[in-house]
Amino acid sequence: MARKIVILTGAGISAESGLGTFRDAQGLWSQHRIEDVATPEGFARDPDLVHRFYSARRIQAAAAQPNAAHHALARLEAEWPGEVVIVTQNVDALHEAAGARQVLHMHGTLAGALCAACGHRWPATPEMTPTTPCPACNRAAARPDVVWFGEIPYFMEEILTHLGEADLFAAIGTSGQVYPAAAFVQEAAAQGAQTVELNLERSEISRAFESRRFGPATEVVPAWVEDLLAGR
Ligand code: OAD
Repeated sequence: MARKIVILTGAGISAESGLGTFRDAQGLWSQHRIEDVATPEGFARDPDLVHRFYSARRIQAAAAQPNAAHHALARLEAEWPGEVVIVTQNVDALHEAAGARQVLHMHGTLAGALCAACGHRWPATPEMTPTTPCPACNRAAARPDVVWFGEIPYFMEEILTHLGEADLFAAIGTSGQVYPAAAFVQEAAAQGAQTVELNLERSEISRAFESRRFGPATEVVPAWVEDLLAGR
């Protein structure tokens, strides 16, 4: 019977598209403090700084192209006889740009704006500022529609259902340092899924996976997809 595959992706899958990861030596968190740019408290303290951070990332992400790893996952979704669900921690749109259809952005998306006052959502303009008005309530409370530390990730109920139904769970290009995503491998394994990690190098949670493939995503992901589709 066709099997269900749930794939968790992190910043590593977009690294070779030119988008920075968070925790590598030159990563975003070596240049910015999480408390300043990725928490509701940081936004309340200095919304201008937070908007400048996300506007720069939005402009950079809009110019990036999907790489061979994003394309391979879109091919897997198109050709696999069962269901393929991509759960991404990434706020770029490179899975969709490669043609993937079932993508859950658990940490939100740079393409979205969210009103911190009334909860209205609308498409973000490339550069937002603290004075960008909400089109619904007109208050100057626009924030990026991304999930910050201390906030609850999106689609959690749906994701847990998918993990419970998964026959195979793969984590690609994620360091396994941020929860709840870091616990998805245990969640899937406890409900009977096989688990595989694809990453540049060993992660904090490598031991939790049954099998591992190390190397750049543009090499290991297409090879893994090729093997799956060939029934290996
Ligand atoms: P990290 O920066 O923590 O981890 C990136 C992972 O990708 C590391 O394990 C790298 O070894 C690996 N990597 C780097 N280059 C790669 C390549 N070319 N091919 C394959 N793997 C590569 O990023 P995430 O795990 O995605 O959340 O971080 C999780 C969350 O922490 C993010 O969504 C973000 C961040 O703080 C929020 O901002 C809420």
